[in-house]
Amino acid sequence: MLKIGHRGAKGYEIENTVISFQKAVDMHVDGIELDVHLSSDNEVVVFHDDTVDRLTDGKGLINAFTVPELKRLLINRKEKIPTLREVLELINRKCFINIELKSYGVTETVINLIEEFVKNKNWKYDDFLVSSFDWNALQQVAFLNDKIPIGVLTETNLELALAFAKFIQAKSLHPHFHLLTKENTAQIQSKGLHVFPWTVNEKKDIEKIKSYNVNGIITDFPDRV
Ligand code: G3P
Ligand code: MG
Repeated sequence: MLKIGHRGAKGYEIENTVISFQKAVDMHVDGIELDVHLSSDNEVVVFHDDTVDRLTDGKGLINAFTVPELKRLLINRKEKIPTLREVLELINRKCFINIELKSYGVTETVINLIEEFVKNKNWKYDDFLVSSFDWNALQQVAFLNDKIPIGVLTETNLELALAFAKFIQAKSLHPHFHLLTKENTAQIQSKGLHVFPWTVNEKKDIEKIKSYNVNGIITDFPDRV
């Protein structure tokens, strides 16, 4: 069963930052999950929200900033928003990267970056897993490069997500953990898909979800899994 650090190790360090990813690696995760947007100068940046307001000392839509402008913003007074390229260089294949596309517009640039790392830096397609709640974005991934592993995210409709995941030949289904039972976990797996629920943090929930024999758990607290 795989241990996947949510936004790095969000339970211990500020989410989606270099220190959070380093912490997750120190906790021997199999993978890290991170969220991406496109900056106004067409770079993939690692950040959860549509706006920088909650986490930084700035204000406004993340898509409206260039990378140099984003680098001037501070998270928690000291951390900076990383680019996806910086995170890939930091991780350097120590674990796989679950890239969650937060907007349709970032898709093609993410694919280009994955292809560059596979072609020039000895990464494998299996070092990546691209997921999204935006199924149009996932369809675009499958259309542009069918070697990239895909994870279908859902927090509402498991049946529909399963049908879609089979349709685009996804690798995995990523349901909110409340949607899962032992039976539907087995049903999804019988269709050849892996099951990676999120965000399972409490020890009792972790034990329950583990008993369903899921393929991995996405958690803020990798050391609890
Ligand atoms: O990828 C799993 C999880 O991260 C999805 O929700 O809002 O935490 O990005 P969110
Ligand atoms: Mg996410």
